[in-house]
Amino acid sequence: MRKKPKRIGLAIVGAGRVGLIRGELAARHPEVDWIGLAEINPERGEIVREKCGADFVTTDFRELLSRPEVNAVVVSTDEHLHVDPVVFAAERRLPMLIEKPLATDLGESAATLAAIEKTGVDAVMGYTQRFRRRWLVAKEKVGSGALGEVTMVTSRAFMNRLVAIDNYRRSDNRAEVTPMVISGTHALDIVMWLMEARKPVEVYARSVNKALGPTWQGVDGTGYTITFDDGAIYHGVISWALPEIWPGAVYSLEIGAVGTEGVLTIDDTHRDIVLATNLIQAEGYAPDKRRHVDFLTSYPVGDMALGELRGPMREETNSWLNRVSLGVPTQHATAREGHNRLMLTKAIDLSAKLKRPVKLPITADDVAAAN
Ligand SMILES: NC(=O)c1ccc[n+]([C@@H]2O[C@H](COP(=O)([O-])OP(=O)(O)OC[C@H]3O[C@@H](n4cnc5c(N)ncnc54)[C@H](O)[C@@H]3O)[C@@H](O)[C@H]2O)c1
Repeated sequence: MRKKPKRIGLAIVGAGRVGLIRGELAARHPEVDWIGLAEINPERGEIVREKCGADFVTTDFRELLSRPEVNAVVVSTDEHLHVDPVVFAAERRLPMLIEKPLATDLGESAATLAAIEKTGVDAVMGYTQRFRRRWLVAKEKVGSGALGEVTMVTSRAFMNRLVAIDNYRRSDNRAEVTPMVISGTHALDIVMWLMEARKPVEVYARSVNKALGPTWQGVDGTGYTITFDDGAIYHGVISWALPEIWPGAVYSLEIGAVGTEGVLTIDDTHRDIVLATNLIQAEGYAPDKRRHVDFLTSYPVGDMALGELRGPMREETNSWLNRVSLGVPTQHATAREGHNRLMLTKAIDLSAKLKRPVKLPITADDVAAAN
Protein backbone atom coordinates (compact mmCIF):
# COMPACT_ATOMS: atom_id res chain seq x y z
CA MET A 1 0.00 0.00 0.00
CA ARG A 2 1.24 3.52 -0.75
CA LYS A 3 2.53 5.24 2.34
CA LYS A 4 1.25 8.62 3.46
CA PRO A 5 4.23 11.00 3.33
CA LYS A 6 5.55 12.31 6.63
CA ARG A 7 5.80 16.12 6.67
CA ILE A 8 9.33 17.37 7.32
CA GLY A 9 10.69 20.03 9.66
CA LEU A 10 14.29 20.31 8.50
CA ALA A 11 17.23 21.59 10.56
CA ILE A 12 20.40 22.55 8.70
CA VAL A 13 23.49 22.88 10.88
CA GLY A 14 26.18 24.86 9.04
CA ALA A 15 24.84 27.22 6.39
CA GLY A 16 27.94 27.46 4.20
CA ARG A 17 28.10 26.53 0.52
CA VAL A 18 26.59 23.08 0.94
CA GLY A 19 24.10 24.12 3.65
CA LEU A 20 22.75 26.78 1.29
CA ILE A 21 22.40 24.30 -1.59
CA ARG A 22 20.59 21.76 0.60
CA GLY A 23 18.36 24.53 2.02
CA GLU A 24 17.37 25.87 -1.40
CA LEU A 25 16.55 22.37 -2.59
CA ALA A 26 14.57 21.56 0.57
CA ALA A 27 12.58 24.77 0.16
CA ARG A 28 11.25 23.37 -3.13
CA HIS A 29 10.44 19.90 -1.78
CA PRO A 30 6.69 19.34 -1.37
CA GLU A 31 6.95 17.59 2.03
CA VAL A 32 9.11 20.22 3.73
CA ASP A 33 6.95 22.49 5.89
CA TRP A 34 9.60 24.17 7.99
CA ILE A 35 13.32 24.96 7.68
CA GLY A 36 15.56 26.06 10.54
CA LEU A 37 19.24 27.02 10.32
CA ALA A 38 22.11 27.00 12.79
CA GLU A 39 25.09 29.03 11.58
CA ILE A 40 27.84 30.35 13.85
CA ASN A 41 28.42 33.29 11.52
CA PRO A 42 25.24 35.42 12.01
CA GLU A 43 25.70 37.41 8.79
CA ARG A 44 25.97 34.23 6.77
CA GLY A 45 22.97 32.77 8.62
CA GLU A 46 20.87 35.79 7.64
CA ILE A 47 21.91 35.58 3.96
CA VAL A 48 21.00 31.90 3.80
CA ARG A 49 17.77 32.39 5.77
CA GLU A 50 16.64 34.88 3.16
CA LYS A 51 17.75 32.76 0.19
CA CYS A 52 15.88 29.64 1.27
CA GLY A 53 13.02 31.37 3.07
CA ALA A 54 13.96 29.63 6.33
CA ASP A 55 11.57 29.96 9.28
CA PHE A 56 14.17 30.11 12.02
CA VAL A 57 17.85 30.95 12.43
CA THR A 58 20.20 30.73 15.38
CA THR A 59 23.93 30.51 16.06
CA ASP A 60 23.38 27.62 18.48
CA PHE A 61 22.75 24.19 16.93
CA ARG A 62 21.49 22.84 20.29
CA GLU A 63 18.72 25.44 20.31
CA LEU A 64 17.77 24.51 16.74
CA LEU A 65 17.83 20.75 17.29
CA SER A 66 15.66 21.15 20.43
CA ARG A 67 12.87 22.87 18.47
CA PRO A 68 9.62 20.85 18.32
CA GLU A 69 9.28 21.34 14.53
CA VAL A 70 12.53 19.50 13.76
CA ASN A 71 12.29 15.87 12.64
CA ALA A 72 15.24 15.66 10.19
CA VAL A 73 18.75 17.16 10.15
CA VAL A 74 21.44 18.03 7.64
CA VAL A 75 24.89 18.43 9.22
CA SER A 76 26.93 20.57 6.84
CA THR A 77 29.52 22.16 9.10
CA ASP A 78 33.23 22.08 8.17
CA GLU A 79 34.74 18.60 7.92
CA HIS A 80 36.21 18.53 11.45
CA LEU A 81 33.09 20.01 13.08
CA HIS A 82 30.44 17.36 12.31
CA VAL A 83 30.81 15.39 15.54
CA ASP A 84 29.02 17.55 18.17
CA PRO A 85 25.84 18.23 16.15
CA VAL A 86 25.71 14.60 14.94
CA VAL A 87 25.94 13.20 18.47
CA PHE A 88 23.37 15.73 19.75
CA ALA A 89 20.96 14.87 16.92
CA ALA A 90 21.49 11.12 17.46
CA GLU A 91 20.56 11.51 21.13
CA ARG A 92 17.30 13.10 19.93
CA ARG A 93 16.81 10.22 17.45
CA LEU A 94 16.64 12.63 14.53
CA PRO A 95 17.33 11.14 11.07
CA MET A 96 20.39 12.75 9.54
CA LEU A 97 22.20 13.48 6.32
CA ILE A 98 25.83 14.08 7.31
CA GLU A 99 28.36 15.61 4.92
CA LYS A 100 31.53 13.58 4.40
CA PRO A 101 33.75 12.70 6.18
CA LEU A 102 32.00 11.49 9.36
CA ALA A 103 34.86 13.15 11.30
CA THR A 104 38.48 13.93 10.55
CA ASP A 105 39.85 12.20 13.67
CA LEU A 106 39.54 8.41 13.64
CA GLY A 107 38.74 8.11 17.37
CA GLU A 108 36.03 10.77 17.08
CA SER A 109 34.62 9.01 14.04
CA ALA A 110 34.39 5.69 15.94
CA ALA A 111 32.71 7.40 18.92
CA THR A 112 30.27 9.19 16.60
CA LEU A 113 29.38 5.94 14.86
CA ALA A 114 28.84 4.28 18.25
CA ALA A 115 26.50 7.12 19.32
CA ILE A 116 24.51 6.73 16.09
CA GLU A 117 24.28 2.95 16.29
CA LYS A 118 23.35 2.98 19.99
CA THR A 119 20.20 4.96 19.23
CA GLY A 120 19.46 3.17 15.95
CA VAL A 121 18.79 6.49 14.25
CA ASP A 122 18.78 6.56 10.43
CA ALA A 123 21.98 8.49 9.65
CA VAL A 124 23.41 8.55 6.13
CA MET A 125 26.38 10.27 4.52
CA GLY A 126 26.71 12.79 1.70
CA TYR A 127 28.66 10.65 -0.77
CA THR A 128 27.01 12.61 -3.55
CA GLN A 129 28.63 10.80 -6.49
CA ARG A 130 26.46 7.75 -5.77
CA PHE A 131 23.59 9.74 -7.25
CA ARG A 132 25.12 10.04 -10.70
CA ARG A 133 23.84 7.83 -13.44
CA ARG A 134 27.31 6.74 -14.60
CA TRP A 135 28.35 5.36 -11.20
CA LEU A 136 24.95 3.74 -10.70
CA VAL A 137 25.25 1.95 -14.05
CA ALA A 138 28.78 0.84 -13.11
CA LYS A 139 27.48 -0.44 -9.77
CA GLU A 140 24.69 -2.33 -11.52
CA LYS A 141 27.03 -3.97 -14.06
CA VAL A 142 29.68 -4.98 -11.52
CA GLY A 143 26.98 -6.22 -9.10
CA SER A 144 25.21 -8.30 -11.75
CA GLY A 145 28.49 -10.00 -12.72
CA ALA A 146 29.04 -8.45 -16.18
CA LEU A 147 32.82 -8.43 -15.55
CA GLY A 148 32.97 -11.88 -14.01
CA GLU A 149 35.02 -11.67 -10.83
CA VAL A 150 36.59 -8.23 -10.45
CA THR A 151 40.32 -8.61 -9.86
CA MET A 152 41.78 -5.12 -10.38
CA VAL A 153 40.42 -1.61 -10.03
CA THR A 154 42.22 1.63 -10.69
CA SER A 155 41.18 5.22 -10.04
CA ARG A 156 42.87 8.48 -10.97
CA ALA A 157 41.55 11.64 -9.31
CA PHE A 158 43.07 14.94 -10.44
CA MET A 159 42.03 18.14 -8.75
CA ASN A 160 42.71 21.80 -9.19
CA ARG A 161 44.87 23.09 -6.33
CA LEU A 162 42.28 25.82 -5.71
CA VAL A 163 40.35 23.19 -3.76
CA ALA A 164 43.36 22.26 -1.63
CA ILE A 165 44.21 25.90 -0.90
CA ASP A 166 40.61 26.63 0.10
CA ASN A 167 40.69 23.68 2.51
CA TYR A 168 44.07 24.61 4.01
CA ARG A 169 42.92 28.21 4.42
CA ARG A 170 39.77 27.14 6.31
CA SER A 171 41.50 24.72 8.67
CA ASP A 172 43.22 25.35 11.99
CA ASN A 173 44.63 21.79 11.97
CA ARG A 174 46.35 21.32 8.61
CA ALA A 175 47.71 17.89 9.52
CA GLU A 176 44.15 16.55 9.29
CA VAL A 177 43.53 18.15 5.89
CA THR A 178 44.91 15.60 3.47
CA PRO A 179 43.81 14.97 -0.10
CA MET A 180 42.69 11.46 0.88
CA VAL A 181 40.57 12.46 3.90
CA ILE A 182 38.94 15.50 2.30
CA SER A 183 38.60 14.62 -1.39
CA GLY A 184 40.05 11.20 -2.22
CA THR A 185 37.25 9.79 -0.07
CA HIS A 186 34.78 10.35 -2.96
CA ALA A 187 36.73 8.18 -5.45
CA LEU A 188 37.47 5.67 -2.70
CA ASP A 189 33.78 5.43 -1.81
CA ILE A 190 32.80 4.76 -5.41
CA VAL A 191 35.38 1.98 -5.74
CA MET A 192 34.59 0.43 -2.34
CA TRP A 193 30.90 0.58 -3.25
CA LEU A 194 31.66 -1.29 -6.50
CA MET A 195 33.72 -3.83 -4.51
CA GLU A 196 31.09 -3.97 -1.76
CA ALA A 197 31.33 -7.61 -0.73
CA ARG A 198 35.15 -7.62 -0.54
CA LYS A 199 37.19 -7.16 2.58
CA PRO A 200 40.24 -4.87 2.35
CA VAL A 201 43.16 -6.36 4.29
CA GLU A 202 46.24 -4.23 3.58
CA VAL A 203 47.25 -0.86 2.18
CA TYR A 204 50.54 0.51 0.89
CA ALA A 205 50.86 4.21 0.03
CA ARG A 206 53.27 7.07 -0.69
CA SER A 207 52.66 10.82 -0.71
CA VAL A 208 54.44 13.83 -2.25
CA ASN A 209 54.40 17.42 -1.01
CA LYS A 210 56.60 19.63 -3.20
CA ALA A 211 53.98 22.02 -4.59
CA LEU A 212 51.71 22.66 -1.58
CA GLY A 213 54.17 21.71 1.13
CA PRO A 214 56.28 24.88 1.33
CA THR A 215 53.37 27.36 1.64
CA TRP A 216 50.59 25.28 3.16
CA GLN A 217 52.46 22.48 4.96
CA GLY A 218 50.15 20.34 2.87
CA VAL A 219 50.21 17.13 0.87
CA ASP A 220 50.12 17.37 -2.96
CA GLY A 221 49.01 13.86 -3.68
CA THR A 222 48.99 10.23 -2.66
CA GLY A 223 49.28 6.93 -4.51
CA TYR A 224 47.95 3.78 -2.81
CA THR A 225 47.31 0.10 -3.31
CA ILE A 226 44.62 -1.68 -1.31
CA THR A 227 44.67 -5.49 -1.29
CA PHE A 228 41.48 -7.48 -0.64
CA ASP A 229 41.16 -10.81 1.16
CA ASP A 230 40.53 -12.66 -2.12
CA GLY A 231 43.67 -11.21 -3.76
CA ALA A 232 41.91 -8.45 -5.72
CA ILE A 233 43.79 -5.14 -5.83
CA TYR A 234 42.73 -1.51 -6.05
CA HIS A 235 45.30 1.03 -7.07
CA GLY A 236 44.41 4.70 -6.73
CA VAL A 237 46.08 8.05 -7.06
CA ILE A 238 44.88 11.48 -6.09
CA SER A 239 46.60 14.80 -6.65
CA TRP A 240 44.99 18.03 -5.57
CA ALA A 241 48.01 20.07 -6.64
CA LEU A 242 47.19 20.68 -10.31
CA PRO A 243 47.95 24.31 -11.25
CA GLU A 244 45.23 26.92 -10.78
CA ILE A 245 45.04 27.41 -14.55
CA TRP A 246 44.16 23.73 -15.14
CA PRO A 247 40.80 23.81 -16.97
CA GLY A 248 39.13 21.43 -14.54
CA ALA A 249 37.82 23.73 -11.82
CA VAL A 250 37.40 20.98 -9.23
CA TYR A 251 37.39 17.18 -9.68
CA SER A 252 38.26 14.85 -12.53
CA LEU A 253 38.21 11.10 -12.24
CA GLU A 254 38.99 8.02 -14.30
CA ILE A 255 38.10 4.57 -13.09
CA GLY A 256 38.84 1.19 -14.65
CA ALA A 257 37.67 -2.17 -13.33
CA VAL A 258 39.01 -5.41 -14.77
CA GLY A 259 37.38 -8.76 -14.14
CA THR A 260 37.88 -12.34 -15.25
CA GLU A 261 35.31 -11.84 -18.04
CA GLY A 262 35.28 -8.15 -18.81
CA VAL A 263 36.44 -4.61 -18.28
CA LEU A 264 34.65 -1.38 -17.46
CA THR A 265 36.23 2.05 -18.01
CA ILE A 266 34.69 5.34 -16.98
CA ASP A 267 36.03 8.71 -18.12
CA ASP A 268 34.74 11.35 -15.73
CA THR A 269 37.33 13.99 -16.58
CA HIS A 270 34.82 16.46 -18.11
CA ARG A 271 37.01 16.96 -21.19
CA ASP A 272 33.89 16.46 -23.28
CA ILE A 273 32.50 19.92 -22.43
CA VAL A 274 34.97 22.77 -22.83
CA LEU A 275 34.32 26.49 -22.57
CA ALA A 276 37.00 28.99 -23.68
CA THR A 277 36.35 32.71 -23.36
CA ASN A 278 38.12 36.06 -23.13
CA LEU A 279 35.74 37.04 -20.37
CA ILE A 280 36.66 36.36 -16.76
CA GLN A 281 35.32 33.05 -15.47
CA ALA A 282 33.64 32.57 -12.13
CA GLU A 283 33.17 28.82 -12.42
CA GLY A 284 33.69 26.27 -9.73
CA TYR A 285 34.40 25.89 -6.10
CA ALA A 286 36.95 28.67 -5.57
CA PRO A 287 37.14 30.66 -8.81
CA ASP A 288 40.49 31.97 -10.09
CA LYS A 289 40.42 35.05 -12.30
CA ARG A 290 43.26 33.77 -14.52
CA ARG A 291 41.23 30.85 -15.78
CA HIS A 292 39.66 31.40 -19.19
CA VAL A 293 39.21 27.78 -20.22
CA ASP A 294 36.92 25.47 -18.34
CA PHE A 295 36.03 21.79 -18.45
CA LEU A 296 32.46 22.44 -17.41
CA THR A 297 30.56 20.30 -14.88
CA SER A 298 33.65 19.42 -12.82
CA TYR A 299 32.10 20.74 -9.57
CA PRO A 300 30.91 17.48 -8.00
CA VAL A 301 27.77 18.91 -6.42
CA GLY A 302 26.34 20.11 -9.76
CA ASP A 303 25.90 23.35 -11.69
CA MET A 304 23.59 26.32 -11.53
CA ALA A 305 21.36 26.52 -14.60
CA LEU A 306 18.17 28.56 -15.03
CA GLY A 307 18.42 29.64 -11.40
CA GLU A 308 18.59 26.17 -9.85
CA LEU A 309 21.28 23.65 -8.97
CA ARG A 310 21.26 20.79 -11.48
CA GLY A 311 23.15 17.62 -10.80
CA PRO A 312 24.02 15.05 -8.18
CA MET A 313 23.46 17.04 -4.99
CA ARG A 314 19.92 17.81 -6.12
CA GLU A 315 19.24 14.10 -6.75
CA GLU A 316 20.87 13.21 -3.45
CA THR A 317 18.99 15.79 -1.37
CA ASN A 318 15.60 15.04 -2.89
CA SER A 319 16.22 11.34 -2.54
CA TRP A 320 17.09 11.73 1.15
CA LEU A 321 14.01 13.89 1.79
CA ASN A 322 11.94 11.10 0.17
CA ARG A 323 13.69 8.55 2.36
CA VAL A 324 12.71 10.58 5.46
CA SER A 325 9.20 11.33 4.26
CA LEU A 326 8.21 8.00 2.66
CA GLY A 327 10.65 5.60 4.30
CA VAL A 328 11.87 4.47 0.85
CA PRO A 329 15.33 2.87 0.49
CA THR A 330 18.08 4.95 -1.15
CA GLN A 331 21.69 4.31 -2.16
CA HIS A 332 23.15 6.71 0.41
CA ALA A 333 26.24 5.51 2.24
CA THR A 334 25.47 4.52 5.82
CA ALA A 335 27.26 6.08 8.79
CA ARG A 336 29.11 2.74 9.16
CA GLU A 337 30.36 3.05 5.57
CA GLY A 338 31.29 6.67 6.33
CA HIS A 339 33.42 5.50 9.25
CA ASN A 340 34.95 2.78 7.09
CA ARG A 341 35.93 5.35 4.43
CA LEU A 342 37.59 7.55 7.05
CA MET A 343 39.43 4.53 8.47
CA LEU A 344 40.70 3.64 4.98
CA THR A 345 41.81 7.17 4.14
CA LYS A 346 43.58 7.42 7.52
CA ALA A 347 45.26 4.06 6.88
CA ILE A 348 46.44 5.28 3.47
CA ASP A 349 47.88 8.43 5.07
CA LEU A 350 49.46 6.33 7.83
CA SER A 351 51.13 3.98 5.34
CA ALA A 352 52.46 6.97 3.40
CA LYS A 353 53.83 8.43 6.60
CA LEU A 354 55.44 5.19 7.81
CA LYS A 355 56.53 4.25 4.28
CA ARG A 356 55.46 0.66 4.86
CA PRO A 357 52.35 -1.49 4.34
CA VAL A 358 49.62 -1.21 6.97
CA LYS A 359 47.23 -4.03 7.93
CA LEU A 360 43.53 -3.19 7.83
CA PRO A 361 41.49 -2.17 9.69
CA ILE A 362 43.37 0.40 11.81
CA THR A 363 42.20 2.16 14.97
CA ALA A 364 42.87 5.58 16.49
CA ASP A 365 45.65 3.95 18.56
CA ASP A 366 47.55 3.04 15.38
CA VAL A 367 47.36 6.67 14.22
CA ALA A 368 48.40 7.97 17.67
CA ALA A 369 51.36 5.55 17.84
CA ALA A 370 52.77 7.06 14.64
CA ASN A 371 52.60 10.67 15.90
N1 LIG B 1 29.25 16.00 -1.24
C1 LIG B 1 29.99 16.88 -1.86
O1 LIG B 1 30.21 16.79 -3.07
C2 LIG B 1 30.57 18.02 -1.08
C3 LIG B 1 31.06 19.15 -1.74
C4 LIG B 1 31.58 20.19 -0.98
C5 LIG B 1 31.63 20.07 0.41
N2 LIG B 1 31.16 18.95 1.02
C6 LIG B 1 31.20 18.82 2.49
O2 LIG B 1 30.22 19.66 3.06
C7 LIG B 1 30.68 20.16 4.33
C8 LIG B 1 30.61 21.69 4.33
O3 LIG B 1 31.41 22.18 3.27
P1 LIG B 1 31.20 23.67 2.69
O4 LIG B 1 31.97 23.73 1.45
O5 LIG B 1 29.75 24.00 2.71
O6 LIG B 1 31.96 24.49 3.84
P2 LIG B 1 31.67 26.02 4.27
O7 LIG B 1 32.90 26.46 4.99
O8 LIG B 1 31.19 26.80 3.11
O9 LIG B 1 30.46 25.87 5.30
C9 LIG B 1 30.56 25.38 6.61
C10 LIG B 1 29.69 26.30 7.47
O10 LIG B 1 29.49 25.69 8.76
C11 LIG B 1 29.49 26.76 9.72
N3 LIG B 1 29.71 26.16 11.04
C12 LIG B 1 30.86 25.61 11.53
N4 LIG B 1 30.64 25.10 12.76
C13 LIG B 1 29.34 25.33 13.06
C14 LIG B 1 28.52 25.02 14.19
N5 LIG B 1 29.00 24.38 15.25
N6 LIG B 1 27.23 25.40 14.17
C15 LIG B 1 26.71 26.06 13.09
N7 LIG B 1 27.44 26.38 11.99
C16 LIG B 1 28.74 26.01 11.97
C17 LIG B 1 30.58 27.68 9.24
O11 LIG B 1 30.46 28.97 9.80
C18 LIG B 1 30.34 27.66 7.72
O12 LIG B 1 29.44 28.68 7.32
C19 LIG B 1 32.09 19.59 4.51
O13 LIG B 1 32.02 18.42 5.28
C20 LIG B 1 32.51 19.25 3.08
O14 LIG B 1 33.46 18.20 2.99
C21 LIG B 1 30.61 17.94 0.30
